Amino acid sequence: MSVLSDPFGRTFPYLRLSLTEACNFRCGYCLPDGYVADGRPVFLARDEVRRLVAAFAAVGMRKLRLTGGEPTLRKDLVEIIREVAGVPGISKVALTTNGTRLPAHVAPWREAGLTALNVSVDSLDRDVFHAVTGHDRLPEILDGIDRALGLGFDAVKVNAVLLRGINDTSLPQWLDYLRERPVAVRFIELMRTNERVDYFEKHHVRAEALERELAAGGWVRMMRAADAGPAIEYVHPDYAGRIGVIAPYSRDFCAGCNRLRVTARGDLRLCLFGDAGVSLRPLLQRDEDRDALVDLIAHQLRLKAAGHGLHDGDSGVTPHLASIGG
Ligand code: GTP
Ligand code: 5AD
Ligand code: SF4
Repeated sequence: MSVLSDPFGRTFPYLRLSLTEACNFRCGYCLPDGYVADGRPVFLARDEVRRLVAAFAAVGMRKLRLTGGEPTLRKDLVEIIREVAGVPGISKVALTTNGTRLPAHVAPWREAGLTALNVSVDSLDRDVFHAVTGHDRLPEILDGIDRALGLGFDAVKVNAVLLRGINDTSLPQWLDYLRERPVAVRFIELMRTNERVDYFEKHHVRAEALERELAAGGWVRMMRAADAGPAIEYVHPDYAGRIGVIAPYSRDFCAGCNRLRVTARGDLRLCLFGDAGVSLRPLLQRDEDRDALVDLIAHQLRLKAAGHGLHDGDSGVTPHLASIGG
């Protein structure tokens, strides 16, 4: 059995590593009051990140996604990218960002070894974007995405969380955006978090109506590999871009789960939902602890549940995604 595999036969070549819980946005579904430091231990230092990534890569991790919070708030991001991109075995280094730092920094990130980029844009309407995120910065973010498109990334994706009454009738705007741009826009079902239960009750909407709209407009659902991750993808011959749907409530993709998560304070989480996590941090302090670290990761993987339970009547709550890295 390979080290990064679980009792259900799933393997985990993909690690999502959060670099910080801090964020400069105040998205209604995540951190509506902004990020407030809570005095708990600081986020992983670069040396800890290096040891962690090297240990996972030594036992089969091939794709690393840097998340947050907002990972681009890290002053040392470009050094982190360069370091992790150079770790033997790692072939993909991706970043999930709110896009505010793209215009000034995307070229250096690319040069340092970043291979893919996911940017959150919940609306193409400037006022709606401002209302959802608390910041009027849509034009510069769209400019940053266009800049990224010229830099030869493997993929540039845009995430929009579907919000009832806010942006759930905006497909036509997205279609205009995708006609000439080779971007994958993914619509994500709003997930229920401990802190935002009321927001979830008010704005959660399933992706089914949107998917019917796509089918009616001639979008064709792609076949996907069992381990392709949570998004179902649609393509259309008249569009340069693609559309993805990430629908944990409408669809169970846990059987194909291929990812692990490590929080910004070094806790390994086996699932986005219902998993308290275990701290890897004591074993990130010395290069000599690599084997013990790998043993601990392998031990934890034996405990991974079959699925997130969202379809079994579980409440399926999780802390806000800034604390887990999404
Ligand atoms: P790639 O497929 O690598 O491009 O990335 P991704 O879609 O997994 O990453 P991204 O950081 O852009 O996440 C998009 C959304 O998908 C976020 O809301 C994530 O929380 C959600 N997501 C990612 N992985 C999972 C998962 O395993 N389960 C669930 N329920 N949601 C996930
Ligand atoms: N439900 C769905 N998506 C969420 N994100 C953050 N919080 C939630 C939530 N409660 C999204 C962000 C970003 C991605 C990493 O996760 O919008 O695109
Ligand atoms: Fe895997 Fe958990 Fe995501 Fe399901 S919710 S796909 S088990 S990480």
